[in-house]
Amino acid sequence: MKKTVAAVLLAMTMTVTFAGCGSDGKDKTAESGDAAGNAADAAADTEKSAQDNSEGEGPLSDGVLNVGTNAEFPPFEYVGDDGEPDGFDMALIKAIGEKIGVEVTVENMEFDSLVASIGSKIDVAIAGMTITDERKNMVDFSDEYYEAVQYVIVPADSEIASAADLEGKNIGVQLGTTGDFIVEDIKDATAAQYNKAVDAVNDLRNGRVDAVIIDKNPAKVFGEQFKDEVKLYDGESPEFGFEKEYYAIALPKGDEELAKSVNDALAELKEDGTFDELVSQYIEN
Ligand code: ARG
Repeated sequence: MKKTVAAVLLAMTMTVTFAGCGSDGKDKTAESGDAAGNAADAAADTEKSAQDNSEGEGPLSDGVLNVGTNAEFPPFEYVGDDGEPDGFDMALIKAIGEKIGVEVTVENMEFDSLVASIGSKIDVAIAGMTITDERKNMVDFSDEYYEAVQYVIVPADSEIASAADLEGKNIGVQLGTTGDFIVEDIKDATAAQYNKAVDAVNDLRNGRVDAVIIDKNPAKVFGEQFKDEVKLYDGESPEFGFEKEYYAIALPKGDEELAKSVNDALAELKEDGTFDELVSQYIEN
């Protein structure tokens, strides 16, 4: 896809944003300021790319769908033995690409920069990404494909057992995720923001954070991996009361043709059983 001036500006803004990302959560205010700038730039940029599509330069006409992900989120995406991103989302987007008749290429990047990169560095993003109103200002979403909720991981001997117990605590999250946003609303809690969820979990095991808030399925994977050291709470339980979330593929704003192709392909994969096969292969195995 075309690299626009907006994309270059955006890349510059992102560098600044990354530089401001501490893992101590103290830079939150500065970050959300930058995020607003990013939103405006990216909106302008995706607007442009949607126009480009209608002029025959989009993924549907060039035959390549460049997909962004963050392969730090098993079982949806992780780096496979061959060093390439693998997982449910990767299999799903490849199946979608096949239905549409485009080649799928995958770019592994920071989760926090996926949304802003749509329309410039990447065409779409699939990354266990929850549909949120804030993201909808910058991108469109496909039909939802998976239901999720945040889980809370704590050390096996922790006394934390409710949302109230999280007040004032140091909580590990992956930067820019819905888990991160939940911590913003917990009284006096500090978000320790990591680029990789596994680093948050390792700091929990080292005693550097009191809890980790992360989506259900990755929480289960990490819970299984470190089962003698940690325990999990279902955030949907009354003790925590977190809301249900829905994953969808993030798409360039206003590209209705691409959205229709993706949604039609998704519907067909659900219809013909492929989707359920992938669920049992990657998620419920
Ligand atoms: N569902 C959460 C969100 O949308 C977390 C997704 C993280 N995904 C990833 N591939 N790291 O914010």
